[in-house]
Amino acid sequence: MAEFVTIAQASDIPLGEGRSLRCGKEDIALFHCEDGFYAIEDFCTHAGAPLGNGFVEGHRVACAWHGAEFCLKTGEALTPPAFGQVKAYEVRVQGTAVQILPQQEQT
Ligand code: FES
Repeated sequence: MAEFVTIAQASDIPLGEGRSLRCGKEDIALFHCEDGFYAIEDFCTHAGAPLGNGFVEGHRVACAWHGAEFCLKTGEALTPPAFGQVKAYEVRVQGTAVQILPQQEQT
């Protein structure tokens, strides 16, 4: 059964920004929003750009390469040229640690 894994400290990511992080075999884009942290797959479905360095507004991120927007809560693709949604991860904060629930076995 999957368990939460620490991927960052809350202070590592300024409010309104994201980071590309690795968690086991998964590439994660972690974002710090007004109401907490959100994590989605770090791979734009248009042409594979990392989403962690995209432009955050509210609960949306715009891909830095061609501007496709994704929902940070669900991973849904909101605008073209994205071809489909990305995974969204469950996130929790324990003390200062930001943790996600991985979707693949951690080895
Ligand atoms: S790679 Fe993200 S919009 Fe093109």
